[in-house]
Amino acid sequence: KKADTEPKEPQEPNKPGGSKEERGGQLCDGMHVEDCQLGAMLMAICWKDLTDEETVCLTKYMRDSGDLLGPWPAEWKGKVVGKHSTGGVGDKVSLILAPALAACGMKVPMISGRGLAHTGGTLDKLEAIPGLSVYASKKDITSWLEEVGCCIVGQTASLVPADKRMYAVRDVTGTIDNFGLIAGSIISKKAAEKLDALVLDVKFGVGAFMKERSEAIALAEKMVKIGNQLKIETSALITDMNNPLGKMIGNALEVAESIQCLHGNGPSDLEDLVLKLGARLLYKSGNAESTEKGEADIKKTLKNGEAVKKFQEMIINQGVDRNKAKALCAKGADMWSILPKSMFTTTIKSPMSGIVHGINALTCAKFSLALGAGRYTINDKINHAVGLELCVSIGDTVSEGKPLMIVHHDSEEMPPGMNEQLIDAFDICLSDRVASIVE
Ligand code: URA
Repeated sequence: KKADTEPKEPQEPNKPGGSKEERGGQLCDGMHVEDCQLGAMLMAICWKDLTDEETVCLTKYMRDSGDLLGPWPAEWKGKVVGKHSTGGVGDKVSLILAPALAACGMKVPMISGRGLAHTGGTLDKLEAIPGLSVYASKKDITSWLEEVGCCIVGQTASLVPADKRMYAVRDVTGTIDNFGLIAGSIISKKAAEKLDALVLDVKFGVGAFMKERSEAIALAEKMVKIGNQLKIETSALITDMNNPLGKMIGNALEVAESIQCLHGNGPSDLEDLVLKLGARLLYKSGNAESTEKGEADIKKTLKNGEAVKKFQEMIINQGVDRNKAKALCAKGADMWSILPKSMFTTTIKSPMSGIVHGINALTCAKFSLALGAGRYTINDKINHAVGLELCVSIGDTVSEGKPLMIVHHDSEEMPPGMNEQLIDAFDICLSDRVASIVE
């Protein structure tokens, strides 16, 4: 069933220097705020910071800037759950966890975000699937939860519109990594979903906004406190984002890897994080008696085909042609007959033999962005086909000349210096003391 009613959100962002409407818009009911004013407020928040009280106040205003979902039917009590991440590289967990939770009988009305700075966005990834719309009315979302149990949608003019505007302006004004703004952005969306329980994936490391583990813990404590204050049973996992998650970075590539994971064939680090986040959520919401049982319940849906079936139904509801959705989600399908594929590939080869110690997530993210997988400015169009495919995992042994990574690109020539710099993303511990000989 296709999305039945508005909103068909315009893809055009606000235009600087245009008419009053083009320069800005409604931040919340009846309040017109221009982008430049919003940018100044965000910068002031970054300089002065928000107290805990101010962060709660901002979160509530953002939540109430549009409609709230629900109230949900009484029989769903304790089952309306969600997950949100602070942003990472190769982080496609939501695409897998939302349908897996639905297959466990949960209701997951997930409002996600677009790419922010170097991190990828769940909505941008989903839009790599031809025909899919991330814009939905409250009526659509409610009926999709009744029928299937999950959906993944974006903020709209009537659903957390303040976050929609602030998110876009933060992305281009260097005002992302402020605790109060991150907490307000994430918790306002989750509060608008009217969740019973929420698990947060708060990331630290070179590929995250919080570089230090201690910073991630402090942010998690802040968000857990606000979530609980807003009557959502909230917990957080602090997770490592020094290396990319899984093997694919880039929109269509990450959709393909998510579908593999939904079939139970995902890379082990990705599947492990999906299971850990899902298990905590099922346990904390009272839907599993222990995290071990929760993990087993989620794993079962990845092995028995239930999770991928939910994903298929979800994308059909969100506008994807039924036959294409079936073809994409069938076991062993040629996903590249449906998903956009880049025109060229280049293999990056190892210059030495050794053990892969690390793969710098930030370097990978920056190159993926340079290929067109993300935005530098508000007007940039995303190329869903491009990205990076890792051929090795941490701890693997590689021999000189063997592939480390495949770059999927659409311009015949890769950006200058990219090959060498991508090699530098790999921290390879030599298996021989003598690295090379210069004569
Ligand atoms: N995800 C969000 O929704 N908001 C942020 O600020 C960061 C990650």
